[in-house]
Amino acid sequence: QDLQGKTAFVTGGASGIGLGIAKALLGAGMNLTIADIRQDHLDEAVAELGGGERVLAIRLDVTDREAFAAAADRAEAKFGKIHLLCNNAGVAVVGPTDLATYADWDWVMGVNVGGTINGIVTILPRILAHGEGGHIVNTASMSALVPAAGTTIYSSGKAAVVSMMECMRPELEARGVICSAFCPGAVQSNIAEAGKTRPEELSATGYAEADKRRQSGDQFFHLYQTKEEVGQRVLRGIMNDELYILTHSEFLDGVRERGEATTAAVQTHLPESEEYKRTFAILFRNPAI
Ligand code: NAI
Repeated sequence: QDLQGKTAFVTGGASGIGLGIAKALLGAGMNLTIADIRQDHLDEAVAELGGGERVLAIRLDVTDREAFAAAADRAEAKFGKIHLLCNNAGVAVVGPTDLATYADWDWVMGVNVGGTINGIVTILPRILAHGEGGHIVNTASMSALVPAAGTTIYSSGKAAVVSMMECMRPELEARGVICSAFCPGAVQSNIAEAGKTRPEELSATGYAEADKRRQSGDQFFHLYQTKEEVGQRVLRGIMNDELYILTHSEFLDGVRERGEATTAAVQTHLPESEEYKRTFAILFRNPAI
């Protein structure tokens, strides 16, 4: 579809993947609101995007519902309508599950899942109200599809935001809103610094050591995909109405194995009743029934 002159709202849009997406959308002719909790990221991003009338930078903590609505109001006041919502802001802790405090769970789930919920509740009705159609992209992660030990909090939150898109897709497609789950592997970004924006009241962490190590650098960083590469991939996914926007080929076997394992686990001993089979084949579109 033609994105020219339409408006995007990208959370966490001032750094890393969000900035890569913002660049690609700007290149496609969209107006752009980047909303981010870090003012320094916003300032750098505006410079990198070349400033200009098509870019609006808003300081926003996506966990703040009132502020989210006010940010959407500002975007609409400037550009008229919002057509594309990228729920991209995200943070991470990594390490053994038994070290996790409630604050670790609450912080990561609050931003990654709660922030996405806030984006949907705030902006979906606005997209439906203008009737010009639209698109929602949740930035999840490959770890939602191929979870790894030591990533329980992060991966389970990412699985939730994939599921949101899977459920909303068939519900909203007929009403002109397309939903996509973006699941990248490793990308060059500032996510190792995420702890810097962690609120004081959620500072009690079980991962202080791991966080320090993450912030001190990553020897594989140069091998990761760039924000520009994944930004272009997301743009392509939007243009093609893709439900799953995937990137990194090294996860192919993992994705396949998971699909095969879940397929094999389905009980094929079926109930006898023809009515049962007919009914649930329609309800769940399962060709095996
Ligand atoms: P990043 O740290 O470079 O960018 C994230 C931006 O979100 C930052 O500018 C940060 O200030 C902002 N942010 C954090 N908390 C926020 C809040 N409460 N409200 C508003 N903005 C907030 O990190 P990156 O890697 O670009 O992360 C973007 C998304 O991509 C996240 O959802 C992350 O989980 C996901 N992701 C990242 C991968 C990677 O390898 N970098 C891989 C898979 C997924």
